[in-house]
Amino acid sequence: MLASIDNHRDEVMQESIRLVMIYGSVREKRFCDQVVAWAAEQIAQRNEFELATVDPALMFREPDEGPDITQLRHQAQQQLLHAEAFVIVTPEYNHGYPAALKRFIDEVPASWEARPVGFVSYGGVSGGLRAVEQLRLVLAELHAMTVRSSVSFTNAWEQFDEQGKLVDPRRANSAMAHMLVQLNWWARTLREGRRQVPYERIRG
Ligand SMILES: Cc1cc2nc3c(=O)[nH]c(=O)nc-3n(C[C@H](O)[C@H](O)[C@H](O)COP(=O)(O)O)c2cc1C
Repeated sequence: MLASIDNHRDEVMQESIRLVMIYGSVREKRFCDQVVAWAAEQIAQRNEFELATVDPALMFREPDEGPDITQLRHQAQQQLLHAEAFVIVTPEYNHGYPAALKRFIDEVPASWEARPVGFVSYGGVSGGLRAVEQLRLVLAELHAMTVRSSVSFTNAWEQFDEQGKLVDPRRANSAMAHMLVQLNWWARTLREGRRQVPYERIRG
């Protein structure tokens, strides 16, 4: 009996967390690509997560764009449905988050419920923080658990060089590590919680 409890705990603690990172911008030549690339690099340095990235632009293309798109969309859909944690990388547009991201949240099925969400934001002086605060309100409705610590790039274009590398990575790397530690804690705690009591039972 005790051995089986220990095995169960080991599984909860050791199995990688299926993490999906979502692009907040779908603009052509978006800055988002650089921020996502940096964030993916940071996540890859840790061993708690198995990372997939999902681009809302892919989900909204016309279905007649060929079998490759259909296949990629199917793969993304599966990743979203089986995710155990999310990171949203969002810019700020007119003191909010992009409309395409709202459409994605509203229309594309994902396992938000009882899963944690971390944020990496960017923009002008506010560093995208107003976008993040609005996302917290929306994600609460989906029963997601937003992580308190986040990463924010003020005047983001000044912080990355032409190769897409951070000019001074120390502060951002440390903020990202902090956020990921919390995301990992929530993801494992909620994984265990869902196994003990399926969330549907208490959703109301
Ligand atoms: C329509 C629009 C509105 C914007 N509004 C804001 C804003 O309210 N606050 C801010 O800090 N930056 C604002 N910006 C600057 C963006 O945050 C910045 O251009 C960012 O790089 C956009 O991300 P993207 O290139 O990945 O789409 C705005 C940009 C656009 C295109």
